[in-house]
Amino acid sequence: MITFQYSHLKTVSEADVRSFDERIAAADRHIRNKDGKGNDFLGWVDLPVNYDKEEFGRIREAADKIRRDSQVLLVVGIGGSYLGARAVIEFLKGCYYNQKRKNTPDIYFVGNSFDGDELKTVLELCEGKDVSVNVISKSGTTTESSIAFRILREYMEDRYSKEEAAARIYATTDRARGALKGLADQNGYETFVIPDDVGGRFSVLTPVGLLPIACAGIDIEALMRGAANEREKLFGDGLTNDAYTYAIARNIQLERGKSVELLCSYDPSFRFMGEWFKQLFGESEGKDKKGLFPASAVYSSDLHSLGQYVQDGSPILFETVCALARPAVRDMNVPYEEENSDGLNFIAGESFYKVNKKAMLGTLLAHEQGGTDTLMIRYDAKDEENLGELIYFFELACAASGYLIDVNPFDQPGVEAYKKNMFALLGKPGYEDKKAELEEKIKNI
Ligand code: PA5
Repeated sequence: MITFQYSHLKTVSEADVRSFDERIAAADRHIRNKDGKGNDFLGWVDLPVNYDKEEFGRIREAADKIRRDSQVLLVVGIGGSYLGARAVIEFLKGCYYNQKRKNTPDIYFVGNSFDGDELKTVLELCEGKDVSVNVISKSGTTTESSIAFRILREYMEDRYSKEEAAARIYATTDRARGALKGLADQNGYETFVIPDDVGGRFSVLTPVGLLPIACAGIDIEALMRGAANEREKLFGDGLTNDAYTYAIARNIQLERGKSVELLCSYDPSFRFMGEWFKQLFGESEGKDKKGLFPASAVYSSDLHSLGQYVQDGSPILFETVCALARPAVRDMNVPYEEENSDGLNFIAGESFYKVNKKAMLGTLLAHEQGGTDTLMIRYDAKDEENLGELIYFFELACAASGYLIDVNPFDQPGVEAYKKNMFALLGKPGYEDKKAELEEKIKNI
């Protein structure tokens, strides 16, 4: 179960929250009636209950086949076409998933940079192992993933026959459009569809996330069930639901002059959930010169780097802490030592969970004293259902928050600017005039 708390330190009152009543009611109407900005991208709202069951079955079959015939799965994609899958796998299986002894393939995420060394390294790691590839792109034309896939197609066809390579490549893309769809049809790759009405950053519960997640041995049915439960609970709670209250609380911080939301966890395996969160909120809200800047940190590690700034630096941020509400299933205790040479016997016998929790509470009090407010999101367990709930909670909060600041939460026009310049500088046909203009500007760089 997911719970949200904003009033534990009494810096935000119920009256502050209620002052958003009209605005949250309007946001809720836009989401339910699909009549707000970007309303043709609200497919994620009902996805946990109306997803394509036949395709879901094919995802499981494909994952079973990949687990049987491959020791490595290469997932090619960027942005919404990789962050969700990586976040779920790392959160549930840990950051050392690939190094663990297991009966599921190692999973490497590639095509999310222009780093040739990284791709070369991953291909070296594939030596002597059987490989499958899941290439994911809604547009089917994203440069980072397209270049990586061009290399991987050649790699797979060199290692296997053209037919065997095709049987090991799975394409997740648009139903009908894009270069990737064309390639998949031409070569006979098994394809999975990204629904038209679900944008990249809201797509983790579509085949985009589900195929790699299932390959890691994660129960995707439980993940969907968690999301469906959270959907029912949140909509059942009406305007006072926790996701809307979180959306309001972060906008209260924005109106009080804060410009950064730091999503903090005390669990290292949450790191990529932070990356997913940053894309979700950053691309949804950061437009028309509005929106909080989403950042993330993993404590206590980052207390030894960012902690000084949060405590004492420019008062630009507030924290949203995501924490496990109950002791972890796998844990260790601090051992007792007769000589007590390191002075740690005062916590001998205590679990890491307990020490971590005291670190969290101590930090919360210290940061509050330094002028940094904290919002709290808690989950009951590190399992598929809770994670499905958390994903849906953030998605609904993000949509509502975008409507509260009156932007279209579902487009990302700003992402195109760098692409146009890059294409011009690389000499893509059609960009000739821009190339000359840009080269003049950067001649001293
Ligand atoms: O949220 C989005 O739509 C984007 O971040 C995309 O996910 C990202 O740009 C990758 O796009 P595509 O899936 O078309 O390759």
